Amino acid sequence: MVVPAVFAEPDSSAMRRTMGRFLTGVAVVTATTHEDEKVGMTISSLTSISLEPPILMISLNLDTRTGDAVIASEAFAVSILGVKQEGVARQFAVRGGARFDDGDFEKTEGGLPVVAGALSQAECRLVNQYTIGDHQVFFGQVISSRYRDGEALAFYSGKFGAFRDFHHDAAPWMF
Ligand SMILES: Cc1cc2nc3c(=O)[nH]c(=O)nc-3n(C[C@H](O)[C@H](O)[C@H](O)COP(=O)(O)O)c2cc1C
Repeated sequence: MVVPAVFAEPDSSAMRRTMGRFLTGVAVVTATTHEDEKVGMTISSLTSISLEPPILMISLNLDTRTGDAVIASEAFAVSILGVKQEGVARQFAVRGGARFDDGDFEKTEGGLPVVAGALSQAECRLVNQYTIGDHQVFFGQVISSRYRDGEALAFYSGKFGAFRDFHHDAAPWMF
Protein backbone atom coordinates (compact mmCIF):
# COMPACT_ATOMS: atom_id res chain seq x y z
CA MET A 1 0.00 0.00 0.00
CA VAL A 2 1.20 3.55 -0.76
CA VAL A 3 1.93 5.48 2.41
CA PRO A 4 1.36 9.21 1.90
CA ALA A 5 4.33 11.32 3.04
CA VAL A 6 2.52 14.62 3.38
CA PHE A 7 -0.50 15.92 5.22
CA ALA A 8 -3.45 16.39 2.88
CA GLU A 9 -7.17 16.91 3.19
CA PRO A 10 -8.54 13.35 3.21
CA ASP A 11 -11.03 12.07 0.67
CA SER A 12 -13.41 9.38 2.03
CA SER A 13 -10.93 6.57 1.33
CA ALA A 14 -8.05 8.38 3.12
CA MET A 15 -10.40 9.26 6.00
CA ARG A 16 -11.37 5.57 6.29
CA ARG A 17 -7.68 4.58 6.39
CA THR A 18 -6.78 7.37 8.82
CA MET A 19 -9.50 6.45 11.33
CA GLY A 20 -9.14 2.71 10.61
CA ARG A 21 -5.91 2.93 12.65
CA PHE A 22 -8.04 3.54 15.72
CA LEU A 23 -8.74 0.02 17.00
CA THR A 24 -12.32 -0.42 18.17
CA GLY A 25 -14.64 -3.04 19.53
CA VAL A 26 -17.56 -4.25 17.44
CA ALA A 27 -21.25 -3.99 18.31
CA VAL A 28 -24.61 -4.63 16.71
CA VAL A 29 -27.30 -1.98 17.08
CA THR A 30 -30.87 -3.26 16.89
CA ALA A 31 -34.34 -1.73 16.85
CA THR A 32 -37.89 -2.61 15.85
CA THR A 33 -40.06 -0.94 13.21
CA HIS A 34 -43.71 0.11 13.58
CA GLU A 35 -44.64 -3.24 11.99
CA ASP A 36 -42.63 -4.97 14.76
CA GLU A 37 -39.97 -6.04 12.25
CA LYS A 38 -36.45 -6.51 13.63
CA VAL A 39 -33.71 -4.34 12.09
CA GLY A 40 -30.04 -3.98 12.96
CA MET A 41 -26.52 -3.36 11.73
CA THR A 42 -22.89 -3.77 12.76
CA ILE A 43 -21.19 -0.68 14.18
CA SER A 44 -17.87 0.37 15.63
CA SER A 45 -19.05 3.91 16.44
CA LEU A 46 -20.19 3.11 19.98
CA THR A 47 -19.00 5.43 22.74
CA SER A 48 -19.83 5.75 26.40
CA ILE A 49 -20.79 9.39 27.01
CA SER A 50 -22.08 9.73 30.59
CA LEU A 51 -22.26 7.52 33.68
CA GLU A 52 -24.86 9.47 35.70
CA PRO A 53 -27.20 9.31 33.92
CA PRO A 54 -25.89 6.41 31.81
CA ILE A 55 -25.75 7.63 28.20
CA LEU A 56 -24.06 6.14 25.15
CA MET A 57 -23.70 7.33 21.58
CA ILE A 58 -23.83 5.64 18.19
CA SER A 59 -23.33 7.05 14.70
CA LEU A 60 -25.21 5.62 11.71
CA ASN A 61 -25.05 6.36 8.02
CA LEU A 62 -27.93 8.60 6.89
CA ASP A 63 -31.07 6.81 5.78
CA THR A 64 -30.48 3.31 7.14
CA ARG A 65 -33.52 1.22 8.04
CA THR A 66 -32.07 0.86 11.51
CA GLY A 67 -31.73 4.64 11.93
CA ASP A 68 -35.30 5.16 10.69
CA ALA A 69 -36.59 2.60 13.22
CA VAL A 70 -34.58 4.22 16.04
CA ILE A 71 -36.15 7.61 15.23
CA ALA A 72 -39.69 6.20 14.91
CA SER A 73 -39.57 4.02 18.04
CA GLU A 74 -37.25 6.32 20.06
CA ALA A 75 -35.44 3.21 21.27
CA PHE A 76 -32.52 0.97 20.36
CA ALA A 77 -30.35 -1.75 21.83
CA VAL A 78 -26.65 -2.49 21.49
CA SER A 79 -24.89 -5.85 21.78
CA ILE A 80 -21.12 -5.67 22.26
CA LEU A 81 -19.65 -8.67 20.49
CA GLY A 82 -17.10 -11.25 21.56
CA VAL A 83 -14.87 -13.26 19.20
CA LYS A 84 -17.52 -15.98 19.03
CA GLN A 85 -19.85 -13.50 17.32
CA GLU A 86 -17.56 -12.58 14.41
CA GLY A 87 -20.07 -14.27 12.09
CA VAL A 88 -22.88 -12.07 13.42
CA ALA A 89 -20.69 -8.97 12.88
CA ARG A 90 -20.19 -9.98 9.23
CA GLN A 91 -23.84 -10.93 8.74
CA PHE A 92 -25.04 -7.54 10.03
CA ALA A 93 -22.64 -5.63 7.78
CA VAL A 94 -23.78 -7.02 4.43
CA ARG A 95 -25.81 -4.36 2.59
CA GLY A 96 -29.36 -5.57 2.16
CA GLY A 97 -28.46 -8.99 3.58
CA ALA A 98 -30.68 -11.17 5.78
CA ARG A 99 -30.02 -10.29 9.38
CA PHE A 100 -32.10 -12.37 11.79
CA ASP A 101 -32.57 -15.61 9.79
CA ASP A 102 -29.43 -17.23 11.23
CA GLY A 103 -28.00 -16.78 14.69
CA ASP A 104 -29.22 -16.68 18.21
CA PHE A 105 -31.17 -13.68 19.49
CA GLU A 106 -32.80 -12.76 22.78
CA LYS A 107 -35.19 -9.99 23.82
CA THR A 108 -34.71 -7.20 26.31
CA GLU A 109 -37.43 -6.37 28.86
CA GLY A 110 -38.70 -3.77 26.40
CA GLY A 111 -38.91 -6.34 23.60
CA LEU A 112 -35.85 -5.26 21.59
CA PRO A 113 -33.77 -7.99 19.93
CA VAL A 114 -30.20 -8.45 21.20
CA VAL A 115 -27.45 -10.89 20.19
CA ALA A 116 -27.41 -13.93 22.49
CA GLY A 117 -24.01 -14.55 24.08
CA ALA A 118 -22.78 -10.98 23.46
CA LEU A 119 -20.34 -9.60 26.03
CA SER A 120 -22.73 -6.75 26.90
CA GLN A 121 -26.30 -5.99 26.01
CA ALA A 122 -27.88 -2.60 26.68
CA GLU A 123 -31.36 -1.28 26.03
CA CYS A 124 -31.63 2.47 25.41
CA ARG A 125 -34.22 5.19 25.19
CA LEU A 126 -33.38 7.78 22.53
CA VAL A 127 -32.70 11.11 24.28
CA ASN A 128 -31.07 13.18 21.53
CA GLN A 129 -30.02 13.04 17.91
CA TYR A 130 -28.06 15.14 15.43
CA THR A 131 -27.28 14.92 11.75
CA ILE A 132 -23.59 15.60 11.19
CA GLY A 133 -22.08 15.28 7.71
CA ASP A 134 -23.34 12.04 6.17
CA HIS A 135 -24.20 10.43 9.53
CA GLN A 136 -26.87 10.56 12.20
CA VAL A 137 -25.63 10.57 15.76
CA PHE A 138 -27.94 9.07 18.38
CA PHE A 139 -27.67 9.44 22.15
CA GLY A 140 -29.38 6.74 24.18
CA GLN A 141 -30.03 6.58 27.90
CA VAL A 142 -29.38 3.05 29.08
CA ILE A 143 -32.49 1.72 30.80
CA SER A 144 -31.17 -1.75 31.44
CA SER A 145 -27.96 -3.62 30.72
CA ARG A 146 -26.05 -6.77 31.54
CA TYR A 147 -22.54 -8.07 30.81
CA ARG A 148 -20.39 -11.18 30.95
CA ASP A 149 -16.69 -12.01 30.67
CA GLY A 150 -15.23 -13.20 27.39
CA GLU A 151 -12.74 -12.48 24.64
CA ALA A 152 -13.61 -9.22 22.87
CA LEU A 153 -13.97 -8.92 19.11
CA ALA A 154 -11.83 -6.09 17.72
CA PHE A 155 -11.72 -4.24 14.40
CA TYR A 156 -8.57 -2.63 13.01
CA SER A 157 -7.71 -1.40 9.54
CA GLY A 158 -10.67 -3.23 8.01
CA LYS A 159 -9.87 -6.55 9.71
CA PHE A 160 -11.44 -8.47 12.58
CA GLY A 161 -9.24 -9.67 15.43
CA ALA A 162 -9.23 -10.21 19.18
CA PHE A 163 -8.20 -8.14 22.16
CA ARG A 164 -5.59 -9.70 24.44
CA ASP A 165 -4.43 -8.04 27.66
CA PHE A 166 -0.75 -7.43 28.56
CA HIS A 167 -1.46 -7.89 32.27
CA HIS A 168 -4.22 -9.89 33.85
CA ASP A 169 -5.04 -7.31 36.55
CA ALA A 170 -7.55 -4.57 35.66
CA ALA A 171 -6.19 -1.03 35.58
CA PRO A 172 -6.77 0.92 38.83
CA TRP A 173 -8.89 3.54 37.04
CA MET A 174 -11.61 0.93 36.54
CA PHE A 175 -12.57 1.21 40.23
C1 LIG B 1 -16.68 -3.55 11.93
C2 LIG B 1 -17.71 -2.68 11.24
C3 LIG B 1 -18.08 -1.49 11.81
C4 LIG B 1 -19.05 -0.66 11.21
N1 LIG B 1 -19.42 0.50 11.83
C5 LIG B 1 -20.40 1.25 11.30
C6 LIG B 1 -20.85 2.41 12.00
O1 LIG B 1 -20.38 2.75 13.08
N2 LIG B 1 -21.85 3.15 11.44
C7 LIG B 1 -22.40 2.82 10.22
O2 LIG B 1 -23.29 3.53 9.76
N3 LIG B 1 -21.99 1.70 9.54
C8 LIG B 1 -21.02 0.92 10.06
N4 LIG B 1 -20.61 -0.22 9.42
C9 LIG B 1 -21.23 -0.56 8.12
C10 LIG B 1 -22.61 -1.20 8.27
O3 LIG B 1 -22.60 -2.30 9.16
C11 LIG B 1 -23.10 -1.70 6.90
O4 LIG B 1 -23.08 -0.64 5.98
C12 LIG B 1 -24.50 -2.30 6.96
O5 LIG B 1 -24.76 -2.99 5.79
C13 LIG B 1 -25.54 -1.21 7.13
O6 LIG B 1 -26.81 -1.79 7.26
P1 LIG B 1 -27.94 -1.60 6.12
O7 LIG B 1 -27.46 -2.40 4.94
O8 LIG B 1 -29.18 -2.17 6.74
O9 LIG B 1 -28.03 -0.11 5.85
C14 LIG B 1 -19.64 -1.05 9.98
C15 LIG B 1 -19.25 -2.27 9.39
C16 LIG B 1 -18.30 -3.08 10.02
C17 LIG B 1 -17.91 -4.38 9.38
